Formats: sequence, C-alpha cells, structure tokens
Amino acid sequence: MTAPPVPHHLAIIMDGNGRWAQQRHRPRIIGHRAGARAVKRCVEFCLQRGIGALTLFAFSSENWSRPAEEVGGLMKLFLGALEREVEELHRLGAQLRFIGERGRFDASIQARMQAAETLTARNTRLYLNIAASYGGRQDIAQAARALAEDVAAGRLTAAQIDEDTLSARMALADQPAPDLFIRTGGELRISNFLLWQMAYTELWFTDALWPDVDATLLQAALDDYATRERRFGLTSAQIKGSPIGKTP
Ligand code: IPE
Ligand code: IPE
Ligand code: MG
Repeated sequence: MTAPPVPHHLAIIMDGNGRWAQQRHRPRIIGHRAGARAVKRCVEFCLQRGIGALTLFAFSSENWSRPAEEVGGLMKLFLGALEREVEELHRLGAQLRFIGERGRFDASIQARMQAAETLTARNTRLYLNIAASYGGRQDIAQAARALAEDVAAGRLTAAQIDEDTLSARMALADQPAPDLFIRTGGELRISNFLLWQMAYTELWFTDALWPDVDATLLQAALDDYATRERRFGLTSAQIKGSPIGKTP
C-alpha cells in the first residue's frame, strides 16, 4: 500500500489565542503565550511527518492596529521567542525565513530576524517561514513595484510581465506553493494571508483554538488532505492515471 500523500508545504493561520485566554478569564497575552507553545508542537509534528515547508501567520499587517498593550505584549513575545528558540530550531535543521514588512519592527527584533536567517540559511530539513507584519495585498503590491522598477531600469519590458515574472518577486518565490492551508479559531476566511500563493491550495478549517492544537488535530487535517483530488482546473478523468492529482 502506498503511503497517503503528505503536503509538502503547509500554511497555517494560527487564530483563536485571544478567545482561548478569554475563556479562562485571563488577559489576551496569556493566550498568545499558550499559542507560542502550540507553535513548538506544530513544528515537531511537521518534522516527524516529513513536511518540507511550514508557513505560519504570526502577525498581519492589520494586527498593528490592535490596542497598543496587545501589540507591545506580542513584540515582547516575538523577541523572547527569537532569543530562546532559534538555537534549537537550528539544531533541528529548520531554515528560518521571515516574510512581511520587517522595517516596521523595532531594530532589536529586525536584528534577531536577520541573525536567525543567517544562522539557519544552510538547513534543509524544514523551511520554516514566519509571516510577520505580512499582508497578501502588500506582498502583491511590492512585487508589482519591483517589476515597475525593473521596467524603469530597462531590465524588463512591459510585455515580459506575466504570472511567472510576478511570481518570481512574491514572498516564498523559491518554494512550492502551499498544498494545504489550515485555519484554527472557527473563522472561514483568508484574512489577507498568502493571496497569490494559495490560488490552488486545499483549505481546511477547524473550530479548535490555536493554543489547543496538537498532533491529533494536525493529523486530522492531513488525513482529510489525503482524500482530496487536486484537479487544477482539469477533469477528474484527466487527473486519474496522471501523477498531478496525487503529487504532494
Ligand atoms: C491570533 O489569535 C494571533 C494573532 C492575530 C496575533 P487572535 O489574537 O486573533 O485571537 P482571537 O481571534 O481574538 O481569539
Ligand atoms: C489573522 O487573524 C492573522 C493572524 C493569525 C496572525 P486575525 O484574528 O487578525 O483575523 P481576523 O481579524 O479575524 O480576520
Ligand atoms: Mg483572531
């Protein structure tokens, strides 16, 4: 029996930290701290299951507009995680990448992000992408700007602008698109995550709150994914007998 396909690239909106804390009559930051522990469980799961790339939505472009106290608490949490967790992730063979407008973070966080990327740059066991100050629209806009700059500088003609040249300037251009998207927290929306990259990603939603996520829940998502027929616009008959529908 062949093993069911495992997604090569898993993308997750880690939602529900605030509600998890609220249910316990605790401040929202307690939920974010519990969420950070769930991130570790999720990374362990991906390593165990041989998932090659994991992209986690940690903080959106829009999350900057939350109350200053929550944003400040999240920044302290990020900095602490960068200080404490990077060595271990390096030892485990994860290559870290931060996508989003990192210029909006404090210099101390930016420096830690850069150092983490440099330290882990040669690792290949798990590509661990953290979307922080990330917005899908912003990503598309910056790619469009990069194309415009190339045209203005004479490196590209307008006629050469197509899906491939735009794709090449998007975040994660060097990685395959996400195969499976998971959103916890019960909301059925994309919330400006990887808009371009998720054109053909399989979507999976759960009411579970992110801090409650464990291997059993993640495995349920993988089991569901294994039953999907990915058609990419073709017919089912075309897919059957071709490797495309089952390619992880
Ligand atoms: C997701 O949890 C984490 C971030 C957006 C930083 P939330 O903080 O959105 O939790 P809920 O959705 O309010 O429960
Ligand atoms: C999406 O969650 C962003 C992250 C998980 C980082 P939000 O909680 O910000 O999304 P909305 O506001 O419910 O759409
Ligand atoms: Mg939320």
